[in-house]
Amino acid sequence: MTFNTLLTEDRGAVRVITVNRPDKLNALNHATLTDLHAAFAAVAADAGVRAVVLTGAGPKAFVAGADIAEMNGLSPVQSRDFSRHGQALMTRIERLGKPVIGMLNGFALGGGLELAMACHLRIAADTAKIGQPEINLGLIPGFGGTQRLLRLAGRAATLELCLLGAPIGAERAMQLGIVNRVVPAAELEAATFAIAEQLANAAPQALRGILDAVLVGGEAPIDVGLDYETTPHRRRCAASSTPCSSAARRRSTSASITRRRASPSRSRPRT
Ligand code: COA
Repeated sequence: MTFNTLLTEDRGAVRVITVNRPDKLNALNHATLTDLHAAFAAVAADAGVRAVVLTGAGPKAFVAGADIAEMNGLSPVQSRDFSRHGQALMTRIERLGKPVIGMLNGFALGGGLELAMACHLRIAADTAKIGQPEINLGLIPGFGGTQRLLRLAGRAATLELCLLGAPIGAERAMQLGIVNRVVPAAELEAATFAIAEQLANAAPQALRGILDAVLVGGEAPIDVGLDYETTPHRRRCAASSTPCSSAARRRSTSASITRRRASPSRSRPRT
């Protein structure tokens, strides 16, 4: 599958999706959003893809925001549709059921931060700049920024970033819980792919169970989350047919529990 605005590549079971408009700092226009929708739909449909790395082309930017030039020409109704197109993409990524790592190699601003926040993990170069600068254009974030930032970093950080509009550095973003790790720019790729590889080798159904349970638990009362964690996760794990080291470990753990339960020494009182 080829795209006008993206590059895709498989490194083993890891699919790398690169937003490829470096001359526009990878800004998200309508065509890019549409391509990203298709690229993530393809990931969902391909059992051979176990993890995704999402990044931006060129040395400067992950994604510097929604495409301002394109947005300038939109009517209010078209703006609303553009916003919904972007929001649906972020939701699609968040609910993919396979881990997606945002590799933040530079500016992650506006729609770029919104895209990064839809990923399940974010690894940032120490040179990355992160923010929701829409206020400087007289706008409000439109691809879920106010909502996901609130859930990720809390009210104070969200209001600071969205109201003031000033980008922050990667270290501060990590202090606020917006990114998971910060690494020297030269080590970004190695650090990200080490994690991606680990995820690609983990039990896919268990990964899916964790992703789903955390997603549900973030929005529901704890009893609903606990219930979700127990029943569907157990069912999904039992249904897992993909061999992997974690599945093998799980089988051996449950075999050893069964053996211990069956052992007569367990029923004897300690002396
Ligand atoms: N939408 C459309 N084009 C964008 C863009 C965006 N969000 N961000 C950058 N670009 C384009 C610039 O217009 C420029 O294109 P040109 O060479 O055809 O004029 C190119 O990318 C390079 O950007 P430039 O501003 O020259 O780079 P810089 O290093 O001087 O500044 C930024 C980098 C990120 C600080 C600056 O580009 C910027 O503020 N971008 C907008 C960020 C933003 O507000 N995002 C939220 C949008 S809702």
